[in-house]
Amino acid sequence: MKKIFILQLSIFWLLNAEVITPIQQINEFDKTKVSLGKELFFDKIFSKDNSTSCASCHSDFGADKQTLSIGVEGKEGNIQSLSVFNAVNNYKQFWNGRAATLEEQIDGPVHNSAEMGVSEEGIEKKLNSSKNYIDKFHKAYGKKPSYKLFKDAIVEFEKTLVTPNSKFDQYLKDETFLIPIEQKGFALFKNYGCAVCHNGVNIGGNSMQLIGNVIEYPYVEGQPDLYNITKDEDDKNVFRVPSLRNISKTAPYFHDGSMLTLETAVIRMAYHNLGMVLDSAEAKAIVAFLKTLDGDIPTTWSEDVK
Ligand code: HEC
Ligand code: HEC
Repeated sequence: MKKIFILQLSIFWLLNAEVITPIQQINEFDKTKVSLGKELFFDKIFSKDNSTSCASCHSDFGADKQTLSIGVEGKEGNIQSLSVFNAVNNYKQFWNGRAATLEEQIDGPVHNSAEMGVSEEGIEKKLNSSKNYIDKFHKAYGKKPSYKLFKDAIVEFEKTLVTPNSKFDQYLKDETFLIPIEQKGFALFKNYGCAVCHNGVNIGGNSMQLIGNVIEYPYVEGQPDLYNITKDEDDKNVFRVPSLRNISKTAPYFHDGSMLTLETAVIRMAYHNLGMVLDSAEAKAIVAFLKTLDGDIPTTWSEDVK
């Protein structure tokens, strides 16, 4: 009851404000660190059996097409991958926000026995037995490789992974216009209340919310939701709202990867979180609007960092 009241209040506020802000292109960065971070991100040696790199689960527009990612020794994870693109603009990392920073986030996959499965010392040993890395850490940091610097270089790379120039950002800057179906989708997105939770520079990524705000969503024992950290019953099925940038490129959807198309994800969201049954024209319009959020692939990702 309280939640619905807050939702209505927020909708009233939203109708009177611009809810999405454009992403700024990153032009200035330390090329030596970013290029080193990129090499580390794509290198499989930093896993227990040399089979898995960060990129193994983050190569499809920064995310993973698989419902559940596969890590070392062929082990399957327990939640859908999130994209590393624009992650720098999220207020916390992971579906349940358990890492406060990108740097802290890296401890997760590195030590997870179903992801990379290596210790801090394991990483340092691998780094310090490679002449290539010893040279490159000296160039970038003037020091020998360490786990701390390993994380720092990866974070420097991740900070450049933003996707500017989406059609919607251009529209916000008055550089282009939306066609009628996209206009309609954006209007519905605001008027129906999607933007209460999906707003800001990442159209999400800035609050923890319930999936099943109005109509309950299936809860799976042990899933990594907020309850998994706090053990507070009210936090069951509470997740950090995902970013909707490039969302048309990162199927499947939801923490459990259960929605295979964007249209079904939109319909289910409206149902569970707003108690609304969208008709097909409305769902298609919202999808058309969401596609205007597709931005450019980061240049540091697609090209050599020079
Ligand atoms: C075995 C697959 C796998 C590997 C390897 C992996 N990740 Fe991930 N990554 C995931 C999954 C799954 C999630 C979502 C997990 C969660 O939220 O509980 C995720 C989440 C993230 C996030 C959070 C994004 C957000 O929106 O909160 C970042 C950043 C990230 N990974 C970066 C990395 C980096 C850097 C590495 C390498 C050091 C790495 N990942 C290795 C699967 C993987
Ligand atoms: C009460 C807050 C709230 C509202 C309102 C809301 N969402 Fe969401 N949205 C979330 C949360 C939380 C998730 C993550 C759900 C999960 O656990 O998988 C999410 C996930 C999504 C996803 C899947 C993202 C991904 O990476 O898997 C899409 C697409 C989406 N929402 C679109 C919408 C649309 C369109 C509307 C309006 C019809 C809407 N949302 C309304 C909170 C909200």
